[in-house]
Amino acid sequence: MKVKPTIASKTFPVLLALLAIVALISCSPKEQVAKYNHSFKPGEIWVDTDSVHINAHGGGILYYNNTYYWFGEFKTAGKGGNSAQVGVSCYSSTDLYNWKNEGIALPVSNEAGSDIEKGAVIERPKVIYNEMTGKFVMWFHLELKGQGYGAARTALAVSDKATGPYTFVKSLRPNAQEWPVDYSEELKTKEYDPELKWWTPDWYKAIDEGMFLQREFEGGQMARDMQLFVDDDGKAYHIHASEDNLTLHISELTDDYQDFTGKYIRIFPAGHNEAPALFKKDGTYYLMASGCTGWDPNAARLFEAKSIWGPWESMGNPCVGEDADLTFHSQSTYILPVQGKEDAFIYMGDRWTPKNPIDGRYIWLPIQFVAGKPTIKWAEDWDLSVFDN
Ligand code: DGJ
Repeated sequence: MKVKPTIASKTFPVLLALLAIVALISCSPKEQVAKYNHSFKPGEIWVDTDSVHINAHGGGILYYNNTYYWFGEFKTAGKGGNSAQVGVSCYSSTDLYNWKNEGIALPVSNEAGSDIEKGAVIERPKVIYNEMTGKFVMWFHLELKGQGYGAARTALAVSDKATGPYTFVKSLRPNAQEWPVDYSEELKTKEYDPELKWWTPDWYKAIDEGMFLQREFEGGQMARDMQLFVDDDGKAYHIHASEDNLTLHISELTDDYQDFTGKYIRIFPAGHNEAPALFKKDGTYYLMASGCTGWDPNAARLFEAKSIWGPWESMGNPCVGEDADLTFHSQSTYILPVQGKEDAFIYMGDRWTPKNPIDGRYIWLPIQFVAGKPTIKWAEDWDLSVFDN
C-alpha cells in the first residue's frame, strides 16, 4: 500500500538536515580546537584556539570577571626576535587550558624616539586591576632602543578594558632620591672606591652596604625583571631586580597603582636574583626567583616572609627531582593562584629559545606544599585535579 506523504514526513528530513548543519557549524574545527587542551603538557607546543603556539613569554595573569587574561612578550622568529617588534600580547581563558588570542594589548610605537619604539626591549609585562579607578594597570621592564640593557627602567600603560588597547603613560627609574626603609644613616654618606674589583670580598661588602644604591640615588633605582603583587588589603607592590641585577627591591605602589610611593626595601643584597614571582598563602609571602645567567636556566630559589617588608628568609630551591638544579630548563615568570581551589598555585616559567624566540615554551607546574614548603616536581602531563587531593 502506498502511504500518502504527510506534511510532517515531508518536513522531517529537511529539519534533520538543518539540525545537522547547525551541529556542524557549532562543532567547526575552530571550536574543536578550542576544547582541544584538557591538560598541561609543559615544554610542548601549546596552541591557542586558532591552533597557533601561544605567544606570551615572560608573562603574567590577571583574573578579572571570571576570566583569566595572560599577558606576555610577543616574540618574533630568528635573530632580533627578543626585542619588541610587535608589543605585548593578551590571551583569555576560563579553564586555563584553552586560550583565545585577544590580540596585541600594547603595540610598540613607530615613532622614532618613543620609549616604546619598535626595537626597544619590552619584557615581563604584568597587569593588575585597580578597583578605585576602574583602570587596568600594566607595568613592564623597558630597555630603550639601541641601549642594550643599560636603561633598566620600568614602564606604565593603562586601559579601561582588560584586553586593551593600553595607552603608554611613562617609563622611569623608581624611587629617585628615596632611601629604602631602615637603611642606616651612616651608610647614606659612606664613600666607596668606584674601582673596586667585582666579585672580591670588599666589593661584595660594598654591594651589601649599598654602593650601587647610592650610585643611582639621584636618578632612580635600576629596574629590570619585575613582578606585581596585590595584597589582600588592595595595596600593590612592584618587585624588581635592581642594582645591576645584584639586589631585589620590593616597592609600594600608590593607591591608583600608577606610581611609586617611595617606600621600598632591598632584599638579599648581592644575592644576584632575578625573575621574581611572589605569592601569598595563609598569611606567608613566598618569593621565587632565579639566578642571573641570561637566557640559560639555573637553580631557582625561594624566600619567605611574614610581612612583605621582611625579614625575608631563604628556603633554598623549591624544585625537586631530575633537572631541579635547572628549574626543569625554565625561569620563573609568575605564580598563579587557581580560582575556586584551595591552596592551588601554578608555577609559570619560560623555557627561552633565544636563537628563535618565538619558539619559547611554557613550563607550568603545580606547586605542592610538602611539610609546609612550596615544592615543584616535574610532570609530563597534568591537570587541575591534582589540587583536589
Ligand atoms: C634573563 C631575564 O630574566 C630575561 O627576562 C631577559 O632579560 C634575559 N635575562 C636577557 O638576557
